[in-house]
Amino acid sequence: MQMIDLIRKKKQGGELTEEEIRWMIRRYTDGEIPDEQMSAFAMAVCFRSMTARETAILTDAMAHSGDMVDLSRFGTLSADKHSTGGVGDKTTLIVAPLAAALGCRVAKMSGRGLGHTGGTVDKLEAIPGYRTEMSSEEFFSQVERIGVAVIGQSADLAPADKKLYALRDVTGTVESLPLIASSIMSKKLAAGARSIVLDVTFGSGAFMKTEEDAVALAREMISIGRACGRRMTAVLTDMDVPLGYAVGNALEVTEAVAVLRGGGPDDLRAVSLELASQMAALALPLPEEEARARADEALRSGAAWETFRRFVRAQGGDLSVLDDPARFAPASVVRTVTAPQSGVIGHMNTQAVGEAACLLGAGRERKEDGIDPSAGIVLAAKTGDEVREGEALARLYTSSQERADAAEERFLSSIEWSTEAPAPRPLVARILH
Ligand code: URA
Repeated sequence: MQMIDLIRKKKQGGELTEEEIRWMIRRYTDGEIPDEQMSAFAMAVCFRSMTARETAILTDAMAHSGDMVDLSRFGTLSADKHSTGGVGDKTTLIVAPLAAALGCRVAKMSGRGLGHTGGTVDKLEAIPGYRTEMSSEEFFSQVERIGVAVIGQSADLAPADKKLYALRDVTGTVESLPLIASSIMSKKLAAGARSIVLDVTFGSGAFMKTEEDAVALAREMISIGRACGRRMTAVLTDMDVPLGYAVGNALEVTEAVAVLRGGGPDDLRAVSLELASQMAALALPLPEEEARARADEALRSGAAWETFRRFVRAQGGDLSVLDDPARFAPASVVRTVTAPQSGVIGHMNTQAVGEAACLLGAGRERKEDGIDPSAGIVLAAKTGDEVREGEALARLYTSSQERADAAEERFLSSIEWSTEAPAPRPLVARILH
C-alpha cells in the first residue's frame, strides 16, 4: 500500500477501506508516513469529507493507537463529559465533583487551552500544589475513594490524534467535521468511560459558529460513541457570549468556587447543572427530571463543594485559596476598560474576548508557551447590557502595560454597540440522545 494512492483516492472523493485507514494511522503514528503526506490527506478530507463508516474506523484506529484506559472496575458508573471548547468555560470544575456527588465515577483526563479557548488542566494548575499527573493506581484509587480525579491527558492517550491534531493546527485543516468528530471521540473512547456527555458549543466563541453545524457534529459523535458501545448524550449550548464573567485561569477557579458555594453567575450554574444531570441520567441511570432534582440538591446542600475540596486536597492543591480566593497570587497590572460610548452591547465577538485573554497571558500562542495563572478578564457587562460612557466594561489582569494595551484594543473590538438588546437566546439550545 502507498500513502500517495490513498491521498489520490480521497482527493477524487473515494471511500477508503478499513484496511487502508488502519494502515495509514498505524504507519503515521510510527513515523513512517511523513507529515507532508498526512497534511495533504487531511486537506483532501476537508474538501471531500468522509463517510460515517470511514469516520468511525478512523476514530477507532486513533483511539487504539495508544493506551485504552480500563474503567471496568467502576461497572456502568463511569461517566465523562467533554466540551468542544469555549471562552470562560469552567464547567468541568463544577460538573466533575457534582456528578461524583451524585454517584458517578469521574476518572477524567482533561486538556490544556487550545487557541482562544481555555483548558481545564491550565485552570486546575492555577491552584498552588495541584498535581495534574499521577500514577494509574493512584488515579483509580482516588476515584474509588472520592468519586473523582482530574488529571492531564497522558502522552499515550490517542497519540495518533495528538500528532494529527498538531499538524491540522498548522495546515489549516482543523475545520472538518469528520476530523473534529474523530479527534474528540478517539480521546473519549480511549479514556474509557461508559457514559459520555458532550457539551457541543456554538456561536462566536466556539469552533462551530452555527447551531446547525453543532447539531451535525453532535450527531456524528453520538453515532461514533454508540457504535463503540458507549451511552451518549449531547447538550448543545450557546457560546455566543462568554460563560460566566471570568476568563483566565485563577479567575475562573474563583468563579467556579462561587458556584460550588451556592452563588456565582446564573448561566454557569445552569449549564453545569444540566451537564451533571445528564451524566447521572446516563450512568446511574435515572430519569432526567429526577437527575436534575438531585443535582440541584447536591449543589445546594454543599455536597458538590465538599467533593471538590476533597479531590483538590487529594491531588495536592492548596485549599486555603479555594476557601479564600483573595489568596491567589495577584496580577501585577490591573486595568479597568471603560465604555467609549453609551449604549447597549448588541453583540460580543466571544472569540476576540478569548484572544484578548490570551494576549494578557491566560493562554498560549505556541504550544511551548507558558501561561500566567493570574492573567485574564473579568467582564462587568455582557451582550444585552446597557452601559453609559465611562462605565466599566471589564477589568483586565496581566503582567505588563504593553499586554494590557494590546488586550484592551482586542477586547474593545469584540463589542458591537446597539440601541436595543438582542432577543435572548436559550443557553441550552437542544439535548440530543
Ligand atoms: N478539539 C479536539 O480535540 N479536536 C479537534 O479537532 C477540535 C477540537
